[in-house]
Amino acid sequence: MLPAYIPNPFAAVFGGGKPIDGGRMMGDGRRILGDGKTYRGLLVGIVCGLLVGLLQMRLVSSGFAVFGTTLPAFGMSTTSSVIVILALSCGSLFGDMFMSFFKRRLGLKRGAPLPVIDQLDFVLGAWLFTYLISPEWFTAMFSFWIVVTVLVITPVLHLVTNIIGYFIGVKKEPW
Ligand code: CTP
Ligand code: MG
Repeated sequence: MLPAYIPNPFAAVFGGGKPIDGGRMMGDGRRILGDGKTYRGLLVGIVCGLLVGLLQMRLVSSGFAVFGTTLPAFGMSTTSSVIVILALSCGSLFGDMFMSFFKRRLGLKRGAPLPVIDQLDFVLGAWLFTYLISPEWFTAMFSFWIVVTVLVITPVLHLVTNIIGYFIGVKKEPW
């Protein structure tokens, strides 16, 4: 899950600049996505997720080597692993972006809280992308209890990170 967890905080730290919707409105008179979704945040987030995934591949393969095997990280070829990592990190930020679109349609301003959705949108996006890219890998990795564990742990992690982000001045709201 790390390549899915990393993009959001890094987008929050390094994001900003030109909004993805270019400031445009929808027919409802509200922004398409809002100023909280920027090109820089998207790009930096995806790249950081990818880097962490590559680091994990490296650690896992060297770890396995200690036991005398050469199992590739993520249990498959390097190319497939990189594709899965990209699905996790892109899916995370696209899930987040999709929910911003949804929030704007509900009339919620940028930064307004939408409990549960705010805490899980990126997980659902990451899972959807990963499932579409590699259903075999997804079903092999995410057993029922792992899914339940992630759904329980993520909101807690999310809240703690955002409170930290708020106090170090990276986030405008502590959620
Ligand atoms: N961010 C960004 N680009 C993205 C995602 C996030 O620049 N694609 C940055 C923005 O500075 C944003 C911050 O990360 O304010 C926190 O992200 P998030 O909580 O998702 O955005 P909000 O400002 O709360 O906006 P929204 O109501 O749309 O969720
Ligand atoms: Mg938010």
